[in-house]
Amino acid sequence: MKFSAFGLTAALAATAAALPSALRRASDYSSAAARVLLGHNGHIYIADYLAESKEFKVTLEEESLGDPSWMAFAAPNRLYAVDEFSASLYYYELDLDSNKLEKKVGRNGSLGVVHLEFNEDKTRLIGSAYGNGTVDVWNIEDGGLELVNTIESDGKLGPNKERQTASHPHQANIDPTGRYFVVNDLGTDEIVVIDSKDDDYKKIGSVRVEPAGCGPRHGVFYPRGGEDATHYLVVCEITNQVLVFSVKYTTEGLRFKQTQTLSTFGEAFPPANATTAAAGEIALTPNNQDVYISNRLTGNKTDSIAHFKVRRSKCGAATLEFADTVSSGGLLPRMFSLSTDAETVFSANQDGKYGLAAIDIGANGKLGDKPLATIDNTVFGDVGFGPQFVQQIV
Ligand SMILES: *[C@@H]1O[C@H](CO)[C@@H](O)[C@H](O)[C@H]1NC(C)=O
Ligand SMILES: *[C@@H]1O[C@H](CO)[C@@H](O)[C@H](O)[C@H]1NC(C)=O
Ligand SMILES: *[C@@H]1O[C@H](CO)[C@@H](O)[C@H](O)[C@H]1NC(C)=O
Ligand SMILES: *[C@@H]1O[C@H](CO)[C@@H](O)[C@H](O)[C@H]1NC(C)=O
Repeated sequence: MKFSAFGLTAALAATAAALPSALRRASDYSSAAARVLLGHNGHIYIADYLAESKEFKVTLEEESLGDPSWMAFAAPNRLYAVDEFSASLYYYELDLDSNKLEKKVGRNGSLGVVHLEFNEDKTRLIGSAYGNGTVDVWNIEDGGLELVNTIESDGKLGPNKERQTASHPHQANIDPTGRYFVVNDLGTDEIVVIDSKDDDYKKIGSVRVEPAGCGPRHGVFYPRGGEDATHYLVVCEITNQVLVFSVKYTTEGLRFKQTQTLSTFGEAFPPANATTAAAGEIALTPNNQDVYISNRLTGNKTDSIAHFKVRRSKCGAATLEFADTVSSGGLLPRMFSLSTDAETVFSANQDGKYGLAAIDIGANGKLGDKPLATIDNTVFGDVGFGPQFVQQIV
């Protein structure tokens, strides 16, 4: 079933009537909800998650230009979306009070961008172009979209003859100081360091990950909320491994040393199909205790999100320890993310039963076995084209 604008308004009105008077106004209703942005083939959605009543309500559905495979939101109303099947980047204004989306500007950059990252003051936007092997830097000041830099790769390709025939930047992560961006390149098995000092955005170094052919995809700096990073955790898509690096700040930039390599699956939970399995997303909780990783194309009945505990030694070295694994609620969880209060995982499944699942984060970071709330993939239309991006924005 598709949500027509009218049907939605009616559904919301019905809900509002049933709520206590204090929650009746639309703005009150919104402030009680986590507003979750979703993107998939031709549409941008917002689903409101009400933790109290454990339910989702779709409050915005708009046709998008292209396929919004990755998005970046800057409060209160700037929304950027890339289409990985073209070279296009779009800037929309998102009015969260009236639930309206308006396209402002579209520009072409590198082909096949799959991830967007802001700089600290949100005046630059960094696009990782998996398709073209380049990293784009956009000036997004004053509502504009101006491509100011295209950073090319000079890395040596990894040994995988099918997946590593070209450089494939998959994600750029801003470090906690705001100065550096590290790019995971799936094609060259590298973590590339870009220095944004003086607005230069220059490649200043890189580290090769082990084993060769592992295909680094998405990563996260550790700890969150600190002044500096002490570690970097990165998920390899091809070999389904998570790598831990120690990070040191030096006069030459960032120095990485790989300190741990482990499977994204627990020993007791190997994928039913090791040939197809392709780890996807990684997230670290704000208390720096728990790491979650999505495992896709596992061949199991559903795909999964694995939970790791972060252990810290006396000298400060961080290691990961597998804890448990739960169903992602469907198939192909390309992306999941944490609610802003870090009490819930929002899991987006491109295929399978639930396109969106809210999974409880319980004591000790343990994920709930059964989702708290879900939206069926049929709501999003075509089978196999469920949401590929999910993030709470307010
Ligand atoms: C990008 O380039 C294509 C091909 O030239 C063109 O059709 C399209 O309109 C351009 N898109 C934007 C957003 O400028
Ligand atoms: C693709 O990458 C090359 C450099 O490798 C760059 O010169 C070009 O601008 C990029 N173009 C597109 C459309 O991706
Ligand atoms: C996936 O399937 C394999 C083998 O069929 C099994 O050993 C493993 O425990 C399953 N994983 C989960 C998370 O159930
Ligand atoms: C794994 O998936 C591939 C590709 O779909 C298939 O050819 C192969 O038979 C599968 N292997 C197992 C053990 O299911």
